[in-house]
Amino acid sequence: MFKPVKLSENIYYIGVNDRRTALFENMWPLPRGVAYNSYLIVDEKTTLIDTVEAGHAGKWLKKIQSIIDDKPIDYLVVNHMEPDHSGAINILRQLYPNIEIIGNKKTIPMIEGFYGITDNMKTINEGDTIDLGIHSLSFYTIPMVHWPESMVCFENTQKTLFSSDAFGSFGTLDGGIFDTEINIDYFEDEMRRYYSNIVGKYGNPVQKALSKLNGLDISTIAPSHGPIFKDNIQKVINWYDKWSQYIGEEGVVIAYASMYGNTEEMADVIARSIAENGIKNIRVYDVSKTHSSYILSDIFKYKGLILGSPTYSNELHPNMEALAMKLSHIGLSNHYFGTFGSFTWAGAAVKKLIETAENLKLEIIGEPVEEKQGLKKDKYEACIELGKVMAEKLKADRN
Ligand code: FEO
Repeated sequence: MFKPVKLSENIYYIGVNDRRTALFENMWPLPRGVAYNSYLIVDEKTTLIDTVEAGHAGKWLKKIQSIIDDKPIDYLVVNHMEPDHSGAINILRQLYPNIEIIGNKKTIPMIEGFYGITDNMKTINEGDTIDLGIHSLSFYTIPMVHWPESMVCFENTQKTLFSSDAFGSFGTLDGGIFDTEINIDYFEDEMRRYYSNIVGKYGNPVQKALSKLNGLDISTIAPSHGPIFKDNIQKVINWYDKWSQYIGEEGVVIAYASMYGNTEEMADVIARSIAENGIKNIRVYDVSKTHSSYILSDIFKYKGLILGSPTYSNELHPNMEALAMKLSHIGLSNHYFGTFGSFTWAGAAVKKLIETAENLKLEIIGEPVEEKQGLKKDKYEACIELGKVMAEKLKADRN
């Protein structure tokens, strides 16, 4: 019935695709779905690496049983407790009551807290190795990539890193599971969107994790979402290195809120000026239309950021306020920042956007532009100047 997918002899991919869930964490859109990856090592000690989201346990168990039939499973390694990976633990325990759960000292209390499980658990420490027979697993904690208990394990004979959320992507695995079987460019955007939405706040912990794993001789990266990497290992490590330092490439995201089109008009004038001054990557978003998931992803991609908002009840437009708050939560850094906006009787939005940028210690570029009511000549020219200054700043980095 099920043709097993092998990473190597006796190591299997047993993940599942989710094309039904609309929002990951009930927040982030999944137009291309998401895969919950899980792995099975068949050895003297048969071992599972993570489970899947609870609603997908049926098809996952079918894959397991098609490989090991009615044999027992000795260990479940819980690399990460977020329920997209741990959700099927109780279902698994009902079928395999003697299974021993392996986690670190932060995982174990979470398993009790989430699932009420207190027995058959084994605590491992940083650097510990467990022999499974021919295979062996060594454990490394990567706190805050994505939760405090997050860890990875490294299978020593096949040099396979089970990397948990790290290097994971949104998007289902539509036939191709390994990077050798797919066009990896398709997944770059979805990996950056996953990174920026889910892990983006934790740049420093990601840098520490990359340093820690730097000494491993990795031949395969097997994440908990998205493709498995064999040919593009250095490429995805480089992506993570860049994103975790908030290093953007040449380009500008202009995100604005607009009720009646005045702020939008300013956005288009600024965008045109940036283009006329030689920058080719310009992405303009209406925050009331495009979900912040995609805007954040492009903000991580490009070095320049310009935010615009009308003043709404002496505050930011609420949809721009939500984006600004997300940027604050993430702790965005290392970007050039400009701002603009409009108001009808008293301006406040631009001041609030500048406060956001100052709190994040972003480099503010050009003069903020704030217009009263419709766009007129002086502020039109100020928008052109803001675009020009941003473009010149980006071009200066070419050298
Ligand atoms: Fe894929 Fe942090 O869970």
